[in-house]
Amino acid sequence: MEFVTHDWWAFAFRYFHVLSGVMWIGLLWYFNFVQIPSMPKIPDDQKPAIGKVIAPTALFWFRWAAVSTFVTGIILAQMNGYLGEAIIIGLGDGAAKHSAIGFGMWLGTIMAANVWFIIWPNQKKALGIVEASADEKAKSARMAMLASRTNTMLSIPMLYAMVSAQNIW
Ligand code: HEM
Repeated sequence: MEFVTHDWWAFAFRYFHVLSGVMWIGLLWYFNFVQIPSMPKIPDDQKPAIGKVIAPTALFWFRWAAVSTFVTGIILAQMNGYLGEAIIIGLGDGAAKHSAIGFGMWLGTIMAANVWFIIWPNQKKALGIVEASADEKAKSARMAMLASRTNTMLSIPMLYAMVSAQNIW
């Protein structure tokens, strides 16, 4: 019975982990593949629809999905009994599965830190959610864009490592 309960919770956390991950990376790709490249093509008088309405809502779901993905991911690794091994990328027991999941988890963690410590504080200035001079706004927008682009690049090996770990025993 205890085993069944553990398995059920591991399943539930895995499900919420993947749901949150899709929400997070889906919005990251929306920003990088759709919103950022479209901005120069939008007439200036229509830009506030993106800057004042769509981007703040997208950023809300984006940053909280990042938290949820990270938290459910750490819980899963703990429930599966390999959190410590994943942190040291499988160097303790030499298991390829732990190297793969550990590598993916580290990349995901760096990406989540980028969201909260670089992208979001800079977006708050760029979108006028907090006070900033015109010069500061331009610098913040560029910094947020570069961190977001970095996360898009990292998302590719991150997802590869995370999904491939499921196929290694
Ligand atoms: C933020 C840091 C992240 C951590 C700490 C983390 C952690 C984990 C762990 C421990 C597993 C293994 C689950 C298991 O063996 O039962 C896993 C699986 C998985 N993760 Fe992540 N993850 C992170 C980010 C992401 C992101 C951003 C996505 C994007 C969709 C994602 C998608 C997946 C998928 C699809 C699986 C495979 C589930 C399965 O096949 O059962 N993860 N993750």
